[in-house]
Amino acid sequence: MGHEMTISERQLKSATFGSGVHGMHCLICDAPLESFLDFGRMPMANGFLDEEEFEDEFFFNLRTGFCARCKMVQLMEQVDRERMFHHQYAFFSSTSRHMALHFEQFARTAHGTMEDKTDPFIVEIGSNDGIMLRYFANAGIRHLGIEPSANVAEIAREQGVNTISRFFDENLAAEIVEQYGQADLFLGANVMCHVPDLHAVARGVRSLLKPDGLLMFEDPYLGDIVEKVAYDQIYDEHAFYFSVLSVRHLFSEHDMEVVDVKPQNVHGGSMRYIIGHRGAHPVSAGVTDQLEKEQALGLDQPHTFDAFRIKVEQSRDRLLEKLQCMRQEGRRVVGYAATSKSTTVTNYCGITPELVEFISDTTPIKQGKYSPGTHIPVRPYDDFKANYPDVALLFGWNHAREIMDKERAFQDSGGKWLVYVPEVKVIP
Ligand code: TMP
Ligand code: ZN
Repeated sequence: MGHEMTISERQLKSATFGSGVHGMHCLICDAPLESFLDFGRMPMANGFLDEEEFEDEFFFNLRTGFCARCKMVQLMEQVDRERMFHHQYAFFSSTSRHMALHFEQFARTAHGTMEDKTDPFIVEIGSNDGIMLRYFANAGIRHLGIEPSANVAEIAREQGVNTISRFFDENLAAEIVEQYGQADLFLGANVMCHVPDLHAVARGVRSLLKPDGLLMFEDPYLGDIVEKVAYDQIYDEHAFYFSVLSVRHLFSEHDMEVVDVKPQNVHGGSMRYIIGHRGAHPVSAGVTDQLEKEQALGLDQPHTFDAFRIKVEQSRDRLLEKLQCMRQEGRRVVGYAATSKSTTVTNYCGITPELVEFISDTTPIKQGKYSPGTHIPVRPYDDFKANYPDVALLFGWNHAREIMDKERAFQDSGGKWLVYVPEVKVIP
């Protein structure tokens, strides 16, 4: 592999030589970015840490920008990917029943597109612990998972899911074609938005897919983020916040087109994009409908994001005020689920261990550690169950229904939920 300019090198270059509004240029089209929200100093969302690591904790400036040319919303500063996705990556896809079900349905839908194919081949980028490819492995379908985080990839392998620990680009695509042939399907769930060099991925997908092959991927949807003021979707791992508008523009540069879009009720509102080589598949009316909705929502206009910032600031002030009020009343507040998203909320709002006693989480490698930046202890779920707090701050709001159903006993005992998306409120 030749020397590929890293994103930080590219941004440094654009910061040094760029003439844009803030010196930062769009990672997709190189136009100057308009910064619309600055969260300040932020640690890594999944950087749960031990006490002795506090001193060396890594911080960066979390800022989002809008590209008026290609409409892509993105981070203004990227964290090196090796820092985020490594042998101790703390995020496991198979943590929730609802998500397991969702991925099984995604796999079935994807499988349905290949009914008439003999010996199909499926590739998934960011296959994590194999939650989706497991379905294809069990059905005896040729598959390949690409997962750079070695610890989660190992779990996939143990379950019979063929997985390599690499980052995907056109070079890897060429190796895969040589070894397995071209692919019928290329899948991605909550991973495309992680990849700063999306052009390299698009070039890889273009060469990897058969002429009638399909790319299907889903990520948190910008329309939902804006509508629900879900600013906590913004963190280091999410380099991009996609809309149909921006995704269409990106793939049009690679002779590919969006042929269908399907809103998904996961991760607080996601969108699935179905993309083929240009002209290979009919384009569904759903694409035009969604583009019209995006225009009505103003996702192509910078002022939409200025209005968003004002709502985010209001949300932060209300949440902090509520928590301070609860502390004055002597109520015990515990965080529920140490999600990646909670890192943005706790750091941006200034939520300290004085306000939130601990965060309960079911993931073993987070337990006993501290939340990034704010250093709130993360404790096992049993600690929540054994001694209910007065209030549970629902950091896992995207799993609200599943969690509230599961925790009826908490509410029956007088416990209250504090939520902040789509608005700050106490339930019941
Ligand atoms: P996320 O998928 O929104 O990032 O949330 C994942 C985290 O939430 C993970 O650390 C597990 C935790 N979690 C719980 O602790 N209890 C729950 O009931 C659920 C659904 C998630
Ligand atoms: Zn752009």
